[in-house]
Amino acid sequence: PPILALVALLAYLAGAVPFGIVIARIFGLGDLRRIGSGNIGATNVLRTGNKPAAFLTLVLDAGKGAFAVLIARAAVGEDAAQLAGLAAFTGHIFPVYLGFRGGKGVATFLGTLLALAWPVGLAACATWLIVALATRYSSLSALMAAALSPLYMIFLGHGQMVMLGIVLTVLIYARHWPNIERLKAGTEPKIGKG
Ligand code: G3P
Repeated sequence: PPILALVALLAYLAGAVPFGIVIARIFGLGDLRRIGSGNIGATNVLRTGNKPAAFLTLVLDAGKGAFAVLIARAAVGEDAAQLAGLAAFTGHIFPVYLGFRGGKGVATFLGTLLALAWPVGLAACATWLIVALATRYSSLSALMAAALSPLYMIFLGHGQMVMLGIVLTVLIYARHWPNIERLKAGTEPKIGKG
């Protein structure tokens, strides 16, 4: 139906806004794509040493996913909410404004999950935090949170979104391939270093 196409388009355009690049520029930190890993996310903003800028990037990149889901749910319904989450996430990793070269989707993934089913979102955020505190690897934390999220959906009573969860998880793994190679080689930088 046309309404779902419109929801997907608007959510995609919202998700494609690269807040990391915008925030880094506003804070005078330079072009994020020339810093650290070159990624446009909060982890890479943190490599500039500016914690408020990194935090703001995290909140805004998560917020655009949550915002898309909540608006779609209020305006159309639950199926539209899932579609909006997928579209916003796709926008972040393939943004039209950056020649489709976007980020890895972790913050937008977490924001989308929080808005779709907050217990699942909280479990994914907690997983990220526990692995991050234990290992200091942002990428590994994201990979663990992503891998477990379909299970959280099943066990926390949100099986209706497990297909979406699997798609998002596969995309997150695809986007983290260089990180996975570095983790295997022992060269992945830890949070707060490199
Ligand atoms: O949030 C993305 C994170 O998992 C990895 O980012 O910059 O270390 O490649 P980065």
